[in-house]
Amino acid sequence: MPFDRRTFLQNAGVAAFAAVAIRRLGAAPVPTSLVPALPRFDASHPDAFWAAVRAQYPLRDDPVYLNCGGLGPTPQPVLNTVFETMTAMQQHSEPEHPQHVDPARKTMARFLGVEPAEICFVRNTTEGNSIVAAGLRLQAGDEVIFESHAHPGGSYPWFNQAKQRGIVVRLFEPDHEHAEGNVERIRTLITPRTKVIQVSHLTCTTGLAMPVRAIAALAQAHGIWFHIDGAQSVGMIPVNIDAIGCDSYATSGHKWLGGPHETGIFYLRRARLEEVAVPEIGSYSGDLPFLPGTIALEPSATRFEYGTRNLGLIAGLETAVRFQEEIGRERIAAHGHELVSRLIDGISGVDGIEILTPRLDAMRGSMATIRHARANPGRLTGYLQKKHRLRCRPVGEQKLEAVRISFHVFNSAAECDRVIAAVRASARDL
Ligand SMILES: Cc1ncc(COP(=O)(O)O)c(C=O)c1O
Repeated sequence: MPFDRRTFLQNAGVAAFAAVAIRRLGAAPVPTSLVPALPRFDASHPDAFWAAVRAQYPLRDDPVYLNCGGLGPTPQPVLNTVFETMTAMQQHSEPEHPQHVDPARKTMARFLGVEPAEICFVRNTTEGNSIVAAGLRLQAGDEVIFESHAHPGGSYPWFNQAKQRGIVVRLFEPDHEHAEGNVERIRTLITPRTKVIQVSHLTCTTGLAMPVRAIAALAQAHGIWFHIDGAQSVGMIPVNIDAIGCDSYATSGHKWLGGPHETGIFYLRRARLEEVAVPEIGSYSGDLPFLPGTIALEPSATRFEYGTRNLGLIAGLETAVRFQEEIGRERIAAHGHELVSRLIDGISGVDGIEILTPRLDAMRGSMATIRHARANPGRLTGYLQKKHRLRCRPVGEQKLEAVRISFHVFNSAAECDRVIAAVRASARDL
């Protein structure tokens, strides 16, 4: 059965209006009817399924979008939820923070394998990382270890603390060949002053998947706080935070999850709640009915969720989770992984093209990073965009001089083949 994108969007729109009606009556959680039912997945003919998924995105076909690691396009049902919730909120203009946020929190907690009391909604991954860096009670000379490939959203909060509080940053070079090598590189940097280990779940540079469970075990054995920057994981691969065993985790809604822009989630293990000071505070963080007095902070991570929020964004994020569940989390990860494998197979051995992403399956996800022997990242991305209509992301971090290609649910095998042909052509043309 052919899938017409407009029909899908119209259907989603009708469902959205119904949802808003329900919401107005009693601020109900976003009903699953907001997310359109997808056709049954047929492994022998998966294209129809993926075309139906693609039809949910208003994203244009030209250029082919291959930068979900930078910013994830949002599917129409999510946008509908945002707009309709915001409209409904304007029609009766009531704060209704808990009525809207608590159901979304429950959905998100289930999705991440944690307790609702362990998460709060923030603006982005950077904000979650910053809460940990600013909130942990550290002293001058205390050390933090993280990888040299950390994104500014993961490294700047710590360099800021180095400047403000004299925290010492120790960097390790990621090992792209052996997962265990990353654990060992961290181990050699541990000293009696090490207070925090942080890693990107997947690095933004080469898409290397860190062995987070093994690192959690190492940190735990040494009594060291373990924080994960998960900007490049949630929504790309299934993530069960509790099973990892970290102390805190930050992620974005607006990348792989397909949530609205400016959405993020911060997780803090319940048993460690009191170890992180609340850097910013206000309504919904706690209780102080009569001034002066002592604030009774919320006994949960919601203490970090202060002040008025755009509830449309949070409702939209919940729809994004439901849409991913409708597609299937394992299926999403497998699709991206298969496209990366296809790309790697298609360009391996091309003269002048180096693949920086790990070759081992378990060490990579849905992103591949390549380097051209004669073209810097600006030139190569410009060439791919102008000549082949492919939107990729230059990787200038750590002078890698490379280009990153991200594949997600809206990308197809045919698009991957276009990338292969373009990269092969670049080896001749540049
Ligand atoms: C590893 C990593 N951390 C943090 C960020 C920053 O994310 P956000 O803009 O949501 O704060 C990014 C963005 O690409 C990233 O890749």
